[in-house]
Amino acid sequence: MDKDLKAAFEKEMKLGKKFFAKAEYKDAFHHFERAHVLGQFFVLPHVRSHIWMFFIGIRTGDFNEIKGQLIRIPLGMIGSALGKVPLGNTGGANIKLSTTLPIPDDLKEHLDAGRDATENEQQKS
Ligand SMILES: [Fe+2]
Repeated sequence: MDKDLKAAFEKEMKLGKKFFAKAEYKDAFHHFERAHVLGQFFVLPHVRSHIWMFFIGIRTGDFNEIKGQLIRIPLGMIGSALGKVPLGNTGGANIKLSTTLPIPDDLKEHLDAGRDATENEQQKS
């Protein structure tokens, strides 16, 4: 994972956890969704974003979210490992697994930068 992309991902995770700690679950979920958009190309970040959505499901007693995340965690691992993820998908149970979504501009720039860095690294080797 490119440095800039990792920093942007970790920033969203940190904000999500901050709101989670304050029991502000709607805002927490929003930041975990943004983290999902950034991190879903990599197994561990992808799973981390889903695990926190699962925690929100537990805390809020949202059975649909709990069930959705229990499905998304293993499928997300496989999808990331195979490089098959739906671009822009926000990862919550409110969005179908395979749905692609527009990527917010402020996140897109991190993804584009990450992709360019990866391509440059591949060209060097
Ligand atoms: Fe996912």
